[in-house]
Amino acid sequence: MKEEGKEIVLSGIRATGNLHLGNYFGALSKFVRMQDSDVYDNMFFIADLHALTTAPDPKLLHENVKNIVTEYLAAGLDPEKSTIFVQSDVPEVSELYLLLNMHVGIGELMRTASFKDKARKALGIRSDSDNIESEIIGTDSNKRVNAGLLTYPTLMAVDILIQKAHKVPVGKDQEQHLELTRRFARRFNSFYGVELFPEPTNFDFGGKPVKVPGLDGSGKMGKSEGNCIYLIDEEKVLRKKVMRAVTDEGPKEPNSPVSEPVQNLFTLMELTSAPDVLQHFKDAYADCSIRYGDLKKQLAEDILKITLPIRERILDIRNDDAYIGRVLRQGAERARERAAATLREAREVMGIRKFY
Ligand code: TYM
Repeated sequence: MKEEGKEIVLSGIRATGNLHLGNYFGALSKFVRMQDSDVYDNMFFIADLHALTTAPDPKLLHENVKNIVTEYLAAGLDPEKSTIFVQSDVPEVSELYLLLNMHVGIGELMRTASFKDKARKALGIRSDSDNIESEIIGTDSNKRVNAGLLTYPTLMAVDILIQKAHKVPVGKDQEQHLELTRRFARRFNSFYGVELFPEPTNFDFGGKPVKVPGLDGSGKMGKSEGNCIYLIDEEKVLRKKVMRAVTDEGPKEPNSPVSEPVQNLFTLMELTSAPDVLQHFKDAYADCSIRYGDLKKQLAEDILKITLPIRERILDIRNDDAYIGRVLRQGAERARERAAATLREAREVMGIRKFY
């Protein structure tokens, strides 16, 4: 809720499917902690416009927005303590996105890691190939790599800057976008000689931003990777996924280095299990007595302790359309108020003034 003098916290998640453990530990669990600390003025939104940069599908989009707001509420976000809203309910964002784009270079957008990654995937180019520019220029359809994907960082910066947010809790993969946001804020402020936008930072309660690994042995957990554990997963499904997680043949001699797939399971355990449980399995690895089956059973058990109560609340909330509607209407009103004020200031300093 808007409270004078408190630092503004803002973050969002794209409406592209159900939330997984990466979203939970990288973002949502931090949102709840920040809200409950009572120190900040908190704003959390569902990034539906950002979802359009990849696979636009009208029916799915609407469903996904509802899924995410339900999951926010089920995980503990409270509309009386936090402003919860949908990005497209704040049309001021779209106007400032257009204005800020006038101060953003195509080159810096094309060099962004997430753009290169998504463009490579869309075009079917190998991940070690760096020469995507000519491929992009050569494609004749806007469907594969659209301009929205290129300007994704501008839109994200506007989400943050239009609310004058100071702290933006996000996972490690979003740090480059935050860096760009700071750069755009500095550039705008210095070009017009104003102090309009604060420079936001990530926030992680003293720890490092996390990268939650997937179950397939490499890389991060991600919706498009098919390696996810979802908050909504049924108990049986979740256990099965964990039991099938990729491992290796096991340590052959004491104190062997830990391979990536096994380290990934340790990392998941670090996030979900008690420290002595993790230590027990690390010691067992070091003296070669580890049985991956036992490790996985324990890991599944500890993940379920977190996800099952959330799943139950999701099932309760998701059919209550009236409640969801109330939460989002109230959130939109609050979010628009501050966004409209910032947009007015930005138009003014840019010289967009009325003659009548
Ligand atoms: P999205 O939907 O890709 O991710 C939402 C949040 O989940 C985190 N995350 C992870 N964290 C750790 N390990 C993982 N495997 C993992 N997978 C996802 C992401 O870091 C992110 O915090 N661009 C944003 C959405 C956005 C936004 C904003 C965020 C749009 N505008 C303004 C903050 C402020 C995104 O990546 O969403």
